Amino acid sequence: MPTVNRSSRGQAPGFIFAAVFQNKFFTTPLVGQGGPMILDNQGRYVWLQRAKASAPDTLNLQVQRYQGKPVLTFWDGTVKNTGEMLGTWHVLNDRYKEIAKLTSANGWDPSGHEFFVEGGDSLLEAALRAGLALDYGCSIGNCGQCRARIVSGQVQKIRHADYALTAAEKTAGVVLMCSNTAVTDLVIEAHEAGMAKFVPAFQALYDSMSDAQKKTADAMFSRKVRTSAAKKST
Ligand code: FES
Repeated sequence: MPTVNRSSRGQAPGFIFAAVFQNKFFTTPLVGQGGPMILDNQGRYVWLQRAKASAPDTLNLQVQRYQGKPVLTFWDGTVKNTGEMLGTWHVLNDRYKEIAKLTSANGWDPSGHEFFVEGGDSLLEAALRAGLALDYGCSIGNCGQCRARIVSGQVQKIRHADYALTAAEKTAGVVLMCSNTAVTDLVIEAHEAGMAKFVPAFQALYDSMSDAQKKTADAMFSRKVRTSAAKKST
C-alpha cells in the first residue's frame, strides 16, 4: 500500500484532487487503486472513480466550466511511454454524473485544458504562463509557428504582423497566438509542441539532429489539440 503523509499544521484548507496512473517506465504492476479521486485534508476519500481495465491511465482531474456551470473533468485511456495518448475526456456535473464525453475527431484531440487571458496579454503569453506546451517560435509575429484556428469566440490583434498567414488561413479563422488577445471566451485549435525538444532528457539529442531529423522527431511527438481560453476582465 502507498503511504499517505498527513500534515496537521500549515496545511492549506480544501480538497486534494488526484488522478493516478503508473509511471510508464516501470514494468511492475501499479500498486493501489488507480483513477481520479478527491481526498479531504485527512487523506480520506471524498470521491473516487476506479480506473477501468480498458482505460487504466487517468489524468488532469480539475474543475472547469461547461455551458456556464462548474464541472469536474478528467481524462482516461492509455498513455504510451512515448507520450502518445489514446482516450476520452469526461465531464461530470455537481452530483458526479457524467454529462458529456469528448473524444478525438478529425485528427484533433480535446486538450482538456483551459487558461485565462489577463488584460491585453497575447494568447501565447497566457497559454505558456498556464503551462500549456503550445508550439511557437519568434513570439513577434514573424515565424508563423504559433498559428491557431479560432473555433469560437472573438480575438483582437495586438500586433499587426500576420503576413506569415495565407489568405486561405485567414479566411478559415487562423490567427497568430503571439499577435492576438481574447475579447471573449474562446475555443482554439493549435499544435501542442513536440515533446522531443521540450523534455530535458531529449534536449541534447535533439540539438544534435539535422533539420530533417528534428522535423521527424517533432512530427512523432506533436499532436493537434483543441483547448479553451477564458477572457478575464482586469
Ligand atoms: S511565435 Fe512566431 S509568429 Fe507567433
